[in-house]
Amino acid sequence: MNVADSELIDGILQKEGYKQTQNIEEANAIFINTCAVRDHAEAKVHSRLGYYNRIKKSHPEVIIGMLGCMAQNLKDEILENKPYVDIVLGPDSYRKLPVILKNRLKDQKHIVDTQLSRFEVYDGLFPSRKEGINAWVSIMRGCDKFCTFCIVPFTRGRERSRSPKSIIQEVERAINDRFVEITLLGQNVNSYKYDNIDFTKLLQQISFIPGLLRLRYTSPHPSDVNEELLEVMAGSKNICNSIHFPLQAGSDRILKRMNRTYTKNHFLEYAKKIRDIIPGVGISTDIIVGFPGETEEDFQETLEVMDTVKFDSAYTFKYSSRPYTKAIEYDDHIDEDVKKDRLDRLIKLQQKHTLLCNREMIDKVVDVLVEKESKKSDEFWSGRTDSNKWVIFKKESAKIKDIIPVRITAAHGVSLKGQTEGIKNEIN
Ligand code: 5AD
Ligand code: SF4
Repeated sequence: MNVADSELIDGILQKEGYKQTQNIEEANAIFINTCAVRDHAEAKVHSRLGYYNRIKKSHPEVIIGMLGCMAQNLKDEILENKPYVDIVLGPDSYRKLPVILKNRLKDQKHIVDTQLSRFEVYDGLFPSRKEGINAWVSIMRGCDKFCTFCIVPFTRGRERSRSPKSIIQEVERAINDRFVEITLLGQNVNSYKYDNIDFTKLLQQISFIPGLLRLRYTSPHPSDVNEELLEVMAGSKNICNSIHFPLQAGSDRILKRMNRTYTKNHFLEYAKKIRDIIPGVGISTDIIVGFPGETEEDFQETLEVMDTVKFDSAYTFKYSSRPYTKAIEYDDHIDEDVKKDRLDRLIKLQQKHTLLCNREMIDKVVDVLVEKESKKSDEFWSGRTDSNKWVIFKKESAKIKDIIPVRITAAHGVSLKGQTEGIKNEIN
């Protein structure tokens, strides 16, 4: 989401004639795009701003801007404690940046705009993307789900969907710019709704666009995943067999407290449907440990769900209190060392499952999109399977952006090793 927003901001500025520099010392303006989802991300931004402050001390004319969710969330604190930050803009205010920059150059005042909009979806603006494989395309913004741990509904505002026409235009443009994979983005991507077009219809329409090798999306909410969506994924060649299916917690009591709107059984039922309907699917998830009130028994239920589903990969987090959220008010917060211990156990189990899932692929031949040179050796490519696993294999005659059949020969932790089996190029 942040990469997509940064590309959007870059696009807005480039249209006005501004250029990016690789050398921060040469910059006339420095912007930091921020995320407030977890407190860890916030800590990193504070330290980065300290660095920009040091640059400003030697170049006092430089303009420093803080953009995105943290700007929304921490504007008062920034204005009070970090006076060297000149511009503070929330996620619905990026359009104003060129005008603000011009005015700022004139009158040198601090400018703050963190008004959230019910309508802003940045239609008609094209992100400036670096050349590459995957283009992120934002299809909706905001979230109305109000999970009790989550700051997003407060920092990014109400849910709103972009018109299919402008989304398709952006995808076509990205393909024209030689991107071969598109990832549709939204805080709650599958609650997309525009007139009578729902997420499944949109996904299918986009998959028909000529030249699109791979189509992915993130992040869906389990309550909005339905069989129709899974059937469309299974029936389409270029919609990837990969789904992010965020569990968050395994016990109904905690799920209820989190306001996740599904039960453990619903989650398990759909995880099974995903595996049954989409052959070879990769399932990733998000899990939070140590949510207020989580007992060892609740935590065990999370581990049990993991054991049943066997996620291919998981993003795992210790619960952290976020401002404005309901969970901050609960009076049974969990000790940090208990959270850490649960996180360690959970990560160990996930590592076991990742290895298990990856080992099952040994000797199978899978299509891999060649994405970049392997960090380990310039004789090897690194690419992803349809199911979103990284594979390293000898370059042979394959080129970047080819889709080639690769026989998996070994599984080490998160990545796979393979051997090419002849090259085919696959355009729908
Ligand atoms: N504490 C820990 N993890 C969180 N996430 C969101 N809010 C919090 C929080 N307060 C995690 C969720 C979400 C992912 C993007 O970040 O797992 O799916
Ligand atoms: Fe946050 Fe829940 Fe919305 Fe995801 S669905 S962005 S976790 S409120």
